[in-house]
Amino acid sequence: MSALYSVRGLVKRYGVKSVLEGIDFDLARGECLVVLGRSGTGKSVTLRHLIGLEQPTSGSILFESLEIVGRSERELQPVRRRVAMLFQGGALFDSMTVFDNLAFPFREHRVCPEAELAGRIAALLDKVHLPGTERRMPADLSGGMKKRVALARALALEPEVLLFDEPTTGLDPMTSASIASLILATQRSTGAAALVVTHDIALARRVADRIAFLDQGRFRFLGTFEEAEAAPDPLLADFLAGREEADDVA
Ligand SMILES: Nc1ncnc2c1ncn2[C@@H]1O[C@H](COP(=O)(O)OP(=O)(O)OP(=O)(O)O)[C@@H](O)[C@H]1O
Ligand SMILES: [Mg+2]
Repeated sequence: MSALYSVRGLVKRYGVKSVLEGIDFDLARGECLVVLGRSGTGKSVTLRHLIGLEQPTSGSILFESLEIVGRSERELQPVRRRVAMLFQGGALFDSMTVFDNLAFPFREHRVCPEAELAGRIAALLDKVHLPGTERRMPADLSGGMKKRVALARALALEPEVLLFDEPTTGLDPMTSASIASLILATQRSTGAAALVVTHDIALARRVADRIAFLDQGRFRFLGTFEEAEAAPDPLLADFLAGREEADDVA
């Protein structure tokens, strides 16, 4: 089966600073790929490229057969309608109610008459186990609730691909586990592909079909969790064992 995304030779430099030095991967339909890596290795930068928020220095990103690289904002609209991104930090609009946050994608893409919004939004809030919270403001929600609202917003347009940037950062282990369950349930019920960027090994173990380990601008490893654990790579082994900051501490 053909890949939904095919990324080849992705290089990104900011001035003289090189972040990505040649990333290659495919994302298959229905697959969950988890990108692991230390802070500052370029995980968020990689995600931003997939929806055209960054232009690479070189390389190619095919979404089905469409080249994303070099497209205008207008040409990217149909891609952004099919690919949802959950930004690092949740990124709800703080001045808007939960209702208006969830209405935003519908209104932006004009896919649903205003009269139908209430029903659509209630259904989304049910999916993330937050029924009846339409009138709340983000400031009144716990971190875990905010993530769930952000997840609901990402699901609004029934995306074929979900991009998650650190969906569990800052959450306690129980809440993280419930977010992991929601990601899995969503993926299974919708058949969407997912690309999850995280430091959270427990999350990766739970949701990943494959993991990629980003280090020094490249995927140092790409394969299943079992293959990763068997790989003869001390750096990867340290990372998987939660010893990723060992170098900095020493
Ligand atoms: N617009 C930009 N201009 C210059 N440098 C940037 C820009 N965006 C990102 N960088 C640099 O690229 C590197 C990778 O950043 P990125 O945010 O992708 O890291 P990350 O792997 O997501 O880290 P974290 O786990 O902390 O979220 C960092 O050194 C960052 O400073
Ligand atoms: Mg990041």
